[in-house]
Amino acid sequence: MAAESTSDRRASDIAAHRRRLDAALPRRRQAKKPAFPFGANWRRFLATLSEERIVRAQRSLAEFLGDGHLEGRSFLDVGCGSGLFSLAARRLGARVYSFDCDPECVACARDLRQRYFPDDPRWTVEQGSVLDAEFLEGIGTFDIVYAWGVLHHTGDMWRAMEAVASRVARGGTLYLAIYNDQGWASRVWRCVKRCYCLAPRGLRWVILIPAAIRLWAPTMLKDLVRHRCALATWRRCGEERGMSPWHDIVDWVGGYPFECARPDAVQAFYVERGFTLERLRIRTGRGCNEYLLRHSASHALR
Ligand SMILES: C[S@@+](CC[C@H](N)C(=O)[O-])C[C@H]1O[C@@H](n2cnc3c(N)ncnc32)[C@H](O)[C@@H]1O
Repeated sequence: MAAESTSDRRASDIAAHRRRLDAALPRRRQAKKPAFPFGANWRRFLATLSEERIVRAQRSLAEFLGDGHLEGRSFLDVGCGSGLFSLAARRLGARVYSFDCDPECVACARDLRQRYFPDDPRWTVEQGSVLDAEFLEGIGTFDIVYAWGVLHHTGDMWRAMEAVASRVARGGTLYLAIYNDQGWASRVWRCVKRCYCLAPRGLRWVILIPAAIRLWAPTMLKDLVRHRCALATWRRCGEERGMSPWHDIVDWVGGYPFECARPDAVQAFYVERGFTLERLRIRTGRGCNEYLLRHSASHALR
C-alpha cells in the first residue's frame, strides 16, 4: 500500500513536472526568438535631438509627401520609434496618432509630445502592434498612414503590409519605407542581425564594431583619398531625415526580425489592393526603398 502510494506520488510528481515544462515551452520558445530592443536605441537618440534635426525631419516628410501643410488631415505613425516623425507631422498641422509595440518607444514618443505639445488633444500615443487586428480595427482610418522602416521588422512583413493598407481612408495616402532586397547580401545581414540579438548584451560590440567598420571604412577611405576629412560623409549622413549616423548603424546591425522586398513586388501587392504608386525612391545597397501610394477613392472596401 505504502509502495503503491510512493509510486503514485512519483507518477503525479512527474506529471506535474511535465505540465510545468509544457506550460513553460511556449514562453521558452518566445524567449528564444531574438528581437532588437529598438526603444533603448531611440532613447539614446533622443538625447541628441536638436531643433535642427526636427526641422530636417519635418522637411523630409513634407518633401516626400509633396505637401508642406497637413492642416486638417489625420496622420497615423505606425511603429513611431522615437516619435520624431509624429512630432514633424504634428508641427505640419496634422492630427496625429502614434503607436509602437515597444513600450520604451511609446515612452519616448510620449516624452516628445510632453516636451513640444503638452496636453495636446490632437496627438495621441499608444502601445500596439500593427499585427494586432483588433487594435488596428479600433483606431479607425487615416488620411496619411506612415510606416517608415517598420514593417520589415515585425516578423510578418506581408501581413503587416496588408494591415497598414486597411488603415488608409478612401483617397488617402500610404507612405512606406521597406528594406531593399539585395539578394545574398540581405541574407548575410539577416544572419549578422540575428547573431547580434542572440548575443549577450555585454558581447554585442563584438558584432557591432566589425559591422560598423564594414559599413563605413570604404566610405571613409574614399573621403580621405579625395583629400577630404575622413568624416565628411559621416557628418552628412542621416541629415536628410534628421537621424544620427551612429544610431542608424546600431539600428541597422541590430534590427531584427528582418525582411526585405523588391520594389516591383511591393508595387504589385498594393496595385492589387486598389493603390496607385505615386512616387518611388529606390536605394541601392542596404537602405530602404520609399513608396508613396494613393488609395483609389472608388476601390471597393477592403
Ligand atoms: C527602425 S524603427 C523606425 C522608427 C520610425 N518609424 C522612424 O522612421 O524613425 C522600427 C520601429 O518599428 C517598431 N515595430 C516593430 N514591430 C512592430 C509592430 N509589430 N507593431 C508596431 N511597431 C513595431 C519598433 O519597435 C521600432 O520602433
